[in-house]
Amino acid sequence: MILKYNIVILKYISLILILLTFSFPANSELSVEEIIKGRKAIFSKNYKTAKRVQILSSKGEFEKAKSLMLEMSDNYKALIELFPENTNKGFKTEALPTIWENKNEFNDLMTKASNNMVKLSEVINETDNIKGTLTSLMWSNCKACHSKFREEH
Ligand code: HEC
Repeated sequence: MILKYNIVILKYISLILILLTFSFPANSELSVEEIIKGRKAIFSKNYKTAKRVQILSSKGEFEKAKSLMLEMSDNYKALIELFPENTNKGFKTEALPTIWENKNEFNDLMTKASNNMVKLSEVINETDNIKGTLTSLMWSNCKACHSKFREEH
């Protein structure tokens, strides 16, 4: 009796799970909290990675630096998807409303930042101005975006 009852419950739970899986589009599986916290975590990681890239490049360790550059490039691409309209406030976000008023400009800056990291990985071992190259292809992109799209603090 008990076994039979359990099987009915299991079938019921499976049915609900199947319905849930198919009734939401992929993106809404993440909550607003998960999206905001997720993008903050990626930005923080990129910051740490950028500092590592600078140290490795200045020591001439280009192979390691290059793989980190490509990692940052991929992270920027992922970030583009983490600014849906409903994540404009809450959870200590520093994202400014200007993002959603100028979504194309914002996305273009993110894409440029991503492409510049690929470019950086191609030129870093050929330049005699490592610091200047890091500034123009990596650090300047942070500032260009933050000055318009991130709250000052
Ligand atoms: C195209 C835009 C853009 C680019 C490029 C960009 N950022 Fe940001 N960054 C943002 C926005 C928007 C936020 C605010 C996110 C939030 O709070 O929801 C942010 C937040 C951050 C944060 C705070 C994360 C936290 O925990 O709150 C750090 C650190 C950061 N960025 C570092 C960088 C660095 C370093 C670079 C360059 C190597 C960079 N960002 C490039 C837009 C950008």
